[in-house]
Formats: sequence, structure tokens, C-alpha cells
Amino acid sequence: MEKTFLMVKPDGVQRNLIGEIVSRFEKKGFQLVGAKLMSIPQELAEKHYGEHKERPFFGELVEFITSGPVFAMVWEGENVIATARTMMGATNPKDSLPGTIRGDFAATVGKNIIHGSDSPESAEREIGLFFKEEELVSYSKLI
Ligand code: CMP
Repeated sequence: MEKTFLMVKPDGVQRNLIGEIVSRFEKKGFQLVGAKLMSIPQELAEKHYGEHKERPFFGELVEFITSGPVFAMVWEGENVIATARTMMGATNPKDSLPGTIRGDFAATVGKNIIHGSDSPESAEREIGLFFKEEELVSYSKLI
């Protein structure tokens, strides 16, 4: 079963949106297999956003993601990577449609509430950066 890495960013945590966001993915039918409320160390932030290293906003991005607690999660389900991206809405909230998480709750590209893996490769990489294998649960033995 496919897994993805999702993270409520510091702005989402501060605005008390963890429950709202978790609820949307639960209601959709995906399963939460890992979660932690945490502060991201500088080194982890730089690794997580490594692909944006050359972008002019890299410093700002790392500063923001380390500015307060985040809620890191691993979700499981059929096509969860692409479907979660659809549910999140476009990266820039000016383009995200009402009904999506960013469309409903975010107004600026820097503070856009949630991060989600954009491909199977980044899902595997990001899950590995934030979670140890033994921190993820399995529902496969449930009847
Ligand atoms: P995220 O999905 O976490 O991945 C990279 C992030 O970079 C993206 O969400 C945006 O929040 C952020 N980002 C993209 N463009 C800009 C920008 N022009 N200025 C600041 N942050 C940006």
C-alpha cells in the first residue's frame, strides 16, 4: 500500500488546524500510520528542503519551518501521494481552489499550512528523514 509524508507547518499548528487537517484525511478513507509533534532541527530542515537549496527563498523556507512545532505524519492508502496533493491544493494559495486545504486556510505561498510529498521517491526519502521504521504502525492484522 502506498505511503506519503504530510506535515502541518508551523502556521497550521499555531492556527489550531491539526485536527481539521487530520479529519479531512481520515474522512477521505486514508489511514494514519505515524505521527509526531516536533520542532525541526536546522540540519533536518536543510535536508528536507535540499532540492530548493539554490532558490532565493531557501533561507526563508528553513527559517520558517524551524520557527515553531510542526505535526509530521505518514498516511497510507491507494494513490495517497497524488490524492493528498489534490486535497492540499496548489502550492501557491492564490491558485488553490476552495475546498482544498490551502484554498480554505492559506493566503501566502510561504505560509501555506501543509507540506506533502510530490512523488513516490520524495515520499520514501521524506518518511525516512522524519520516521524510524519502528515508529510506523501496521493495520494489516486487523480483521
Ligand atoms: P512545500 O510544499 O513545503 O515545498 C517547498 C515550499 O517552498 C513550498 O511548500 C512553499 O511554502 C515554499 N515556497 C515556494 N515558493 C516560495 C516563495 N516564492 N517564497 C517563499 N516560499 C516559497
